[in-house]
Amino acid sequence: MTSITVRKPDDFHNHLRQGEMMTHLVKETAKVFARTNVMPNTLPPIRNAEDLTKYHEELKAVGTDLEFLMTFKVMPETSPEMIPALKAAGAVAGKLYPLGVTTHSEDGVADIEALFPTFQAMLEEDLVLCLHGEVPGEDALKREEAFLPKLQAIHKNFPQLRIVLEHASSKAAVEAVKSMGDSISASVTVHHLVLTIEDVQDSAGSIHHPHHLCMPICKTDADRKALQEVVFSGHHKFFLGTDSAPHSREKKEAGHPPAGIYTTPVALPVLTELFEEAGKLDQLEAFTSQFGADFYQIPLNDSQIELVKESWIVSEEMFGVVPFRAGEQLSWKIS
Ligand code: NCD
Ligand code: ZN
Repeated sequence: MTSITVRKPDDFHNHLRQGEMMTHLVKETAKVFARTNVMPNTLPPIRNAEDLTKYHEELKAVGTDLEFLMTFKVMPETSPEMIPALKAAGAVAGKLYPLGVTTHSEDGVADIEALFPTFQAMLEEDLVLCLHGEVPGEDALKREEAFLPKLQAIHKNFPQLRIVLEHASSKAAVEAVKSMGDSISASVTVHHLVLTIEDVQDSAGSIHHPHHLCMPICKTDADRKALQEVVFSGHHKFFLGTDSAPHSREKKEAGHPPAGIYTTPVALPVLTELFEEAGKLDQLEAFTSQFGADFYQIPLNDSQIELVKESWIVSEEMFGVVPFRAGEQLSWKIS
């Protein structure tokens, strides 16, 4: 096959940051995706309808045709009374970070049950709950698995509430999501389908590739295989959310690297390569452009995107950020 055309994809988990960086990120995202979920962990975070509207205006002002699916941060102070205004401002989802699990989560949630009235209000407004499903403090490889009982508990209390377990990274998570009702789904990143812990740190636990460090951390070969299998099988509960999360080269290489991998410019070519190698190209479009939209109950995109089999070398650096697969050769290119 020398070319492939798919419905234009959506990214259901993307960090578009702020300021000059935001302008670059919006433009790069618009080249690949029709719509993108916008994560709310800005500084300060997107807490209320006013923040959300302001951020949305800034994103639109970049002047692309990318459509923004806005989210707000579910924090201890997010009250049920705030939810109708957030919905009216255009929010599609609220994102919950447990306290201290990742970049800018110092204001995260310690007591999830205390937020049950807020979840009830989100259910009434038909908003999606996006979960960063990790328990801080545990062994990095076990943090996600340790969170799964909490996911079960929320689902049990709110069986109708649509929940996305974001960036599923373990076999345990794949099995848990498959076993629960259709209101539970998972987003899957490109890097968790490609990397294992060995690509990030050595056996003593010291990070040898800071640009591969993300939260949740890439796990074992068995975990990666479980993710690949469920995605290649065309399971409707698993869809693309890149969790593209750029940090400057300077910060990444300074010693204590912040977590996050910038994947937007290579996401689609890398996925195409992966699905082709597995003999599953026929499943690519559903993963990138259908299952997520169905879960979010939004129409499928009309436009299409073409990839051609043509090698190219990924840039070493883009606006001060080292992208995933920097300097490497990829075999599929967006035409
Ligand atoms: C994200 C970031 O940098 O904002 N980092 C990451 O490793 N994924 C935060 C997040 O979504 O966890
Ligand atoms: Zn993220």
